[in-house]
Parts: sequence; structure tokens; C-alpha cells
Amino acid sequence: MKELKVLAVVVFFTLVTYWGVEPYAHHEMHPPKPAPDYSFKDVDGLKGMKGNAEAGAALVQSNCIACHSITSQSFPPLMDDATSGASYGVVPPDLSSSGKLYNADYLAAFIKNPAKAAKTAHKFEDGATHPMPNYDWMQPQEIADMVAYLQSIAPKEMTNKEAFTDACLRCHSIKYGDMKKGTMSAKTPDENIKAYMGKLPPDLSQYIRSRSESYLHEFVNDPQKHLEGTAMPRVGLTKAAEDQVVTYMQEVGDSKKAEREALGPKFLIYLVIFAIFAWLWKASKWRELH
Ligand code: HEC
Ligand code: HEC
Repeated sequence: MKELKVLAVVVFFTLVTYWGVEPYAHHEMHPPKPAPDYSFKDVDGLKGMKGNAEAGAALVQSNCIACHSITSQSFPPLMDDATSGASYGVVPPDLSSSGKLYNADYLAAFIKNPAKAAKTAHKFEDGATHPMPNYDWMQPQEIADMVAYLQSIAPKEMTNKEAFTDACLRCHSIKYGDMKKGTMSAKTPDENIKAYMGKLPPDLSQYIRSRSESYLHEFVNDPQKHLEGTAMPRVGLTKAAEDQVVTYMQEVGDSKKAEREALGPKFLIYLVIFAIFAWLWKASKWRELH
């Protein structure tokens, strides 16, 4: 009986402490963040306008391929990465997969005004300009046509690694993705991207461990909501593309996760069997004593 009373006292104080501390830790120290918004309602997007891919092809060729390669359509880069990093501050991404990676409204808004769509306008105030010009002087129909063209040439399927490469690798390394060959180093040389961003974007190899999966989703979807004033631009990925990017970070940074999780149930089964044997053994010992 005495043991039961002691147990009750311990349980009571544990619950009181938990009740006092736990909600505080959650709500005060980690206030809930708004969930990612994959519809990008806040941007100056297409407003439901449908584009014509054929008209868009001509517009993209005359406006975009001076800076951007579109390798799938045989528009190669005009400079190597070092030269274009030095010219623009960051290597402009290849546009072959943009129509699949980016939400269409975000893409339209980015073409009209990159700094505004990416929420980095605060960095381009004192005379500095975004390396990609605004195209808000074009007709809304022309913007919609270019988006339709980029969607029409985008691959139907991409690997997780390709999604990461096209969306993040111009700024971020993920060196553990390819330890031996070094092909997953950031495309832009360190000194250029540092000068452009004001900060060297971190290597993302281990971020799946140091940040939660949900944090990564929320952060990429809208960095300013999480780190006000951060140098990281918003990257307007669709939910599917963002899932691929985060899955790739998981594959690289935490490749044993599936194995570890599979071990859990096996270990519990082992414990149960062990407990049965322990109990049988104890019972047999006590039988000998009585
Ligand atoms: C003068 C060079 C230049 C021209 C012309 C240009 N861009 Fe860019 N673009 C860039 C650079 C540099 C970046 C990378 C900016 C960054 O990451 O901050 C970029 C980024 C992008 C992105 C990535 C968006 C994101 O959120 O990651 C897309 C999509 C894009 N450009 C589309 C276009 C299209 C479509 C055109 C033609 C209408 C175009 N660009 C014209 C230089 C250019
Ligand atoms: C145009 C360059 C650029 C692109 C493209 C970019 N990032 Fe970043 N990112 C940065 C910079 C700069 C920082 C450092 C921000 C800071 O510390 O204020 C950063 C920081 C981060 C961080 C660290 C956040 C933290 O909590 O410290 C993560 C995670 C991240 N980026 C993920 C991504 C992913 C995933 C992609 C691709 C979908 C991506 N980034 C694309 C420039 C970029």
C-alpha cells in the first residue's frame, strides 16, 4: 500500500510540472507558424489568364536566353558558371524545368518583378538592382504566354536530385549528395554568391537533422515568415516540387531513417518476448522457494 501512495504522489507532481511547463515551452518558445501557402494568393500572378505556349516560345527566346540556358530546347549557357556568377552575382538557373518546379502564379509574378515575388525587395533599396530585370512593362497576356511555354517544355517526371539541383544548387551546396565527385557543390562561386546575398548560403547536407521537415517546408515557402530580414529569397515551388526537394535532403542527410524506423517494431517485439522469458524465469525461481 505504501508503494502505491508513493507512486500517486510522484505521478501527481509529474503531471503538475508537465502541465505548467509543456504548454509554455510550446506556445511561448515556438509560437505556431502559418502553414505553407502553395497557392501563392498574395502574389501578382496570372489572375486566371490562360497563355499560348507558341507565342510564349518566341517571347522567351527574345527576352530570357541571353541570361538563362534552356538545355532541353538546345539553348546552351552562353558563359561558364564562373563567368556568369561573376557577372550576375548568381548563376541564372536553367529554365528547362521551371514550368514544373514553380507555381504558375508565382512564376508570372517573378517574371514581372523578381525582387517583389521573392520578397527580397528590402535588399535592393539603395540603388542596387536585382540581377534579373522586371518584365512588368509587358502585357499580362505575354507573361501568361511565357508561363504556358515554360510549362509546355517542362519534363513530366523529375528525380528528387534534379528538383534540388534546379531549385537550390545555384546558391547552396549539398556536398554529402556526392562526396567523391564534388558535383553537388553550389554552381555560383562562393565569393560571388556571398557578395550578392550578403551571406554565404549554408551547405544543406545536414539541415534535415538540424531543422525539422515541417520547418524546411515552411521556410522555403516563405523564408521571411521565419527569419525576418533573411537573405534567402522565397522560392515559389509547388507542393510536389518542394516535397521532392525535402525528400532529397532526407536521402542525403539522413539516409538511415527508414532503416532506423523499421528497427523500432522489431525491438519492441524483442522486448515483449524477453519480458515473457524473464517472467517465466522469475516464476520458476519463486516456485523453488515456496
Ligand atoms: C539579365 C539576366 C536575366 C534575364 C534577361 C532574365 N533572367 Fe531570370 N534570372 C536571372 C538571375 C541572375 C536569376 C537568379 C536570381 C536569384 O536567384 O536571386 C534569375 C532567376 C530566374 C528564375 C528563378 C526563380 C526562383 O524563384 O528561383 C526564373 C524562373 C527566371 N529567372 C525566369 C526568367 C524568364 C522567364 C526570363 C525572360 C522573361 C528571365 N528570367 C530573364 C537573370 C536573368
Ligand atoms: C538565390 C540564392 C538562394 C536560393 C536559390 C536558395 N537559397 Fe536557401 N539560403 C540562401 C541564403 C543567402 C541563406 C542564408 C540566409 C540567412 O542566414 O539569412 C539561405 C538559407 C537557407 C536555409 C537555412 C535556414 C535556417 O533556418 O538557417 C535553408 C534550410 C535553405 N536556405 C534551404 C533552401 C532550399 C531547400 C532551396 C531550394 C528550394 C534554397 N534554399 C534556395 C540563398 C538561397
